Amino acid sequence: MEAIHLENLEFSYDGETPVLKGISLDIPKGSYTAIVGHNGSGKSTLAKLLIGLLEPSKGTIEVLGQKLTEQSAPEIRDHVGIVFQNPDNQFIGSTVADDIAFGLENHCVPTEDMQRLIEENAAKVGMLDYLNAEPTNLSGGQKQRVAIAGILAMSPDILIFDESTSMLDPQGKASVNAQIRKLNKEKNITILSITHDMDEAAQAEHMVVLEKGKVFAQGRPEDVFEDEAMMKKLKLDLPFALKASNAFRKYGLVDKPSLTLDALMEDVCRLK
Ligand SMILES: Nc1ncnc2c1ncn2[C@@H]1O[C@H](COP(=O)(O)OP(=O)(O)O)[C@@H](O)[C@H]1O
Ligand SMILES: [Mg+2]
Repeated sequence: MEAIHLENLEFSYDGETPVLKGISLDIPKGSYTAIVGHNGSGKSTLAKLLIGLLEPSKGTIEVLGQKLTEQSAPEIRDHVGIVFQNPDNQFIGSTVADDIAFGLENHCVPTEDMQRLIEENAAKVGMLDYLNAEPTNLSGGQKQRVAIAGILAMSPDILIFDESTSMLDPQGKASVNAQIRKLNKEKNITILSITHDMDEAAQAEHMVVLEKGKVFAQGRPEDVFEDEAMMKKLKLDLPFALKASNAFRKYGLVDKPSLTLDALMEDVCRLK
């Protein structure tokens, strides 16, 4: 069964200007998919459609085999966690702990499990020392970490991230992304990550390139990134390791492109 199945999805905010222009997409259960694309290509709009915050003007959305309608939306939302682009809109509690607890309370998690889940998930995003802090006093990156912890705590079947680590420093990004990949591998949670971080996209199983409301390309990251002319045309960046390995190749230091630093270093060491 697909986690998400989209058929010919169309959407417009004003009923005139098309924003999504016939998107068909399958996201297999348990997969890690990265969606990349220029600002304005429709990524956030797509995320909002997926949880029924917006209604498509045409086409169908199926989540875990169930068609998304006004009636099924509440039930579907129980299985889908989403972290939006701007963490400010997602804060309700007066402390970080309250905030992480909020979703758990809504999911009727027993009180005796609550504290453990709050701590476990705060630790996953490096916010264990901030449980009593006021969310409003946190930096943008810390707010993003807390928003992610709150969603992770609910362990939904499908996790959607909309540029959810955009305000983190590179190290913070890598560490939070590693936690998310771990959940994907160990708990088989389906991940859909909208990102500008090509190093993250490089580590996904599947990559989708959106451009002007259409799926422009999709496939394994190594295949999508291989089309450098397309990436250049769409003004999309390449993963750091790929840029580095391309430069190294010119000097004969490595003989193949690498998508991750680990792969690149292995290559360098092997040839040395
Ligand atoms: N609430 C809105 N009302 C009208 N137009 C919108 C709204 N949100 C986004 N748009 C427009 O829809 C298009 C896609 O936006 P969006 O989905 O936010 O793209 P992305 O997330 O890829 O940057 C853009 O042209 C944007 O200006
Ligand atoms: Mg967006």
